Amino acid sequence: MSDWQKSNWRERPRVQMPDYTDEAALNAVEAQLTNYPPLVFAGEARRLKSHLAAAGRGEAFLLQGGDCAESFEQFSADGIRDTFKVMLQMAMVLTYGAKVPVVKVGRMAGQFAKPRSAPTEVVDGVELPSYRGDIINELDFTEAARIPDPKKMLQAYTQAAATLNLLRAFSTGGYADVNQVHQWTLGFVEGDKASKYREMAGRITDTLDFITAAGVRSEQAHTLQTVDFYTSHESLLLEYEEALTRLDSTSGKWLAGSGHMIWIGDRTRQPDGAHVEFARGVLNPVGLKCGPTTTAEDLKLLMERLNPTNEEGKLTLIARFGAGKVAEHLPRLIKAVQEVGANVTWVCDPMHGNTIKSATGYKTRPFDSVLKEVREFFAVHQAEGSIPGGVHFEMTGQDVTECTGGVRDVTEEDLSDRYHTACDPRLNASQSLELAFLVAEELTNLRMAKAEAASA
Ligand code: PEP
Ligand code: CO
Repeated sequence: MSDWQKSNWRERPRVQMPDYTDEAALNAVEAQLTNYPPLVFAGEARRLKSHLAAAGRGEAFLLQGGDCAESFEQFSADGIRDTFKVMLQMAMVLTYGAKVPVVKVGRMAGQFAKPRSAPTEVVDGVELPSYRGDIINELDFTEAARIPDPKKMLQAYTQAAATLNLLRAFSTGGYADVNQVHQWTLGFVEGDKASKYREMAGRITDTLDFITAAGVRSEQAHTLQTVDFYTSHESLLLEYEEALTRLDSTSGKWLAGSGHMIWIGDRTRQPDGAHVEFARGVLNPVGLKCGPTTTAEDLKLLMERLNPTNEEGKLTLIARFGAGKVAEHLPRLIKAVQEVGANVTWVCDPMHGNTIKSATGYKTRPFDSVLKEVREFFAVHQAEGSIPGGVHFEMTGQDVTECTGGVRDVTEEDLSDRYHTACDPRLNASQSLELAFLVAEELTNLRMAKAEAASA
């Protein structure tokens, strides 16, 4: 893309970004980050793109999940391990249950900046700027805490690097070995889905014993001992993104070095805005949130801007409408894609259209609405002759009470027990597993319907 430069976004209208007051401090941080190593490499981003292309064709399925907002305070090896474990469990349910390869992408190692619905927040009559994620300001409700501080970008980079380092170790160092399938279960996960998982793990172990007894060669066994695990985040804080953007010498293209995949949020997808301008120039796979206000015309224009060569796996459309609204909005967007023959990977985010305020004052998401939106997403794709390629969700391996419902039936009164999110309410491990079983069921039904249609 010859007309693109990593700083061109600066000439475009920007929304949802902080106004840093100390320009010298900002410049110093940007200069420092520009000298730091990238967190990911171009070859990895390209490999993820080829996996996403497969998901777009229905030959694989994307599982993209993690925190709404990563937190400096809650950063711990155990937290990363537990989220990783839940992702492995969910992937196993899909691989074994639905017989589909799973592309695993964490909302991790960079998911720090948050768009907000209002620029300020009022508590007990006091109005302060909104919290925008730990890379920008602090959650504490004081004036000082809410001032954007560019130095937080350095801490975010360090945390992202350490997170990615641990994820790489977990992925290839033996932890993700499928022979460990029983060990991925978290102690507190209960309910019939937990026993269903244990049963499935038992059958997998049996199969592995059989394969070993049958004398499978060790290099083949290697694929079962490691996983590909990728990182992603919303590309919101463009000073940070630009500073980590690097020229890939092999291809002569630009890489967003902050994570394997980046996405554009529902509030920052203006076709002429700064965020689209930045994302259109990097070689990474790019996600685009599509919400109730996305029109067919917007989408056509955005697809043209973000993927002018119609490269497969480049663009993932992340639909987030809310339960009960998918049939109203998704068909027009699927038709827009079909009309122009665009290659996209369709993914369902059943979280962001289902946020409500509980009677007890907490921001929550009813788990039933989450499941309902997933079912609607599958149904609309089937009706429109399109391919559901994945799910995108907010989740944690910690035993939190943030979304109501699920097998352990978190009630509105329970929300205060373990409500730890820095931003949006996340699924806990049991709810995540339940979601995976639902998706496996939907995928299996889809495959059966296809087989039936083919034989009819
Ligand atoms: C998010 O994914 O955390 C988010 C803010 O989503 P959206 O842009 O779809 O509202
Ligand atoms: Co969120």
